[in-house]
Amino acid sequence: MSASVSVSDSVSSPLVGVWLIGARGSVATTVVAGCAAMTAGLHPPTGLVTETPAFADSGLPPLASLVFGGHDTVDCPLPKRAEALAAGGVLPPGLPTAVAAELAAADREIRPGGPATGDTRTEQELIEAFAADIEDFVQRRGLARTVVVNVASTEPSAVGRALPPSSLYAAAALRAGCPYANFTPSTGLHHPALAESAEASGLPYAGRDGKTGQTLLRSVLGPMFTQRALTVRAWSGANLLGGGDGAALADPAAAAAKNAGKERVLADTLGTTPEGEVHIDDVPALGDWKTAWDHIAFDGFLGTRMILQTIWQGCDSALAAPLVLDLARLTVRAQEAGLSGPLGELGFFFKDPVGEGPAGLGEQYEALVGFAGRLKGTERGAGDVVGGRAEDEGQLRHEKGSSGAGSSGELW
Ligand SMILES: NC(=O)c1ccc[n+]([C@@H]2O[C@H](COP(=O)([O-])OP(=O)(O)OC[C@H]3O[C@@H](n4cnc5c(N)ncnc54)[C@H](O)[C@@H]3O)[C@@H](O)[C@H]2O)c1
Repeated sequence: MSASVSVSDSVSSPLVGVWLIGARGSVATTVVAGCAAMTAGLHPPTGLVTETPAFADSGLPPLASLVFGGHDTVDCPLPKRAEALAAGGVLPPGLPTAVAAELAAADREIRPGGPATGDTRTEQELIEAFAADIEDFVQRRGLARTVVVNVASTEPSAVGRALPPSSLYAAAALRAGCPYANFTPSTGLHHPALAESAEASGLPYAGRDGKTGQTLLRSVLGPMFTQRALTVRAWSGANLLGGGDGAALADPAAAAAKNAGKERVLADTLGTTPEGEVHIDDVPALGDWKTAWDHIAFDGFLGTRMILQTIWQGCDSALAAPLVLDLARLTVRAQEAGLSGPLGELGFFFKDPVGEGPAGLGEQYEALVGFAGRLKGTERGAGDVVGGRAEDEGQLRHEKGSSGAGSSGELW
């Protein structure tokens, strides 16, 4: 195991809830199984940024203190989902059996999501029902804090005033007094109708769309071209993937929502949007394994034309799950430290980050480590100390936040 401290530093820590929207999906199942595997010492925390030394004294909740629950619209039991992932090589063979108790415990905390076809409930009623599920989880399990993380299927971009499901859940998180992280490109808290409630809630939030593969590379390579004064003429990309994500992204509207984030990183790091598009193809036979190809045409000295091509072959859920755990720990800790509003310092994790922050991965990492350093300055539960300090430094617009479930007043 690495220089990790918190995997075992757990015995007396308060319990922290992680409420997953899309709790029976590949990413969510890998999060629950992976957290149990690390806590039991079966696997090292590879890929978990918050287990590296820079975060050792930031007061993050230990992995063993995390309690999982969530919403989903399907009823496949989590242990069965984990078996399917192991059969596909996403989870190590034998892991579903080794962590069967933890999977079953999380499965008992999953509530029906929505809206189902033909559901006649109003937006307000759905938000209230989702918030009541979260509040019940918090109270029954005696959780000190709970973060809501969206890992549900990608939706098409929202149009008009109607709230898409991701925004109903985000409103429910606000109503339940929970910080929120959106690991998907879906609208979530980004809906104009939620802006006022998000601001008034005093809660911290992070998003959108986890940066795990092609866009991770783009956020490293984009700054390289700029810093070396090389002119990018075109940047094109293709993705082949299967699994539930591949099926969801076969819908052109959902794929368009995803591609907007992938292209934003180029505009932000190159200062201009180069020619070229990103394509996503659903190849069910690939399951959770993704191949992403980028083709970059650029000019060198005296206009000499050159090409860089990259091929990324990754297991999507194995890339995403540690980041979801990182985000859950950091967002909960931010709330505990009294921070509110968009957590721009978590841009390192996202394709389309909320708030202010740099676009290149190196600078994003520096911002994240700075954030971890500021968290060190506060006692756990010390309230507004970090928020006050950040305001003094003029780096954040965070203010003192609310402190627990149900404290955000009349939101939705
Ligand atoms: N894996 C990665 O590398 C990665 C990176 C960035 C973003 N993401 C995003 O994470 C999300 C999850 O990916 P996945 O591979 O686990 O997909 P998945 O299809 O395996 O899981 C999605 C889950 O969401 C559930 N769901 C759909 N609509 C819902 C609703 N209204 N309420 C509650 N649950 C609902 C589905 O039933 C399913 O269980 C996707 O949006 C994906 O784009 C993944």
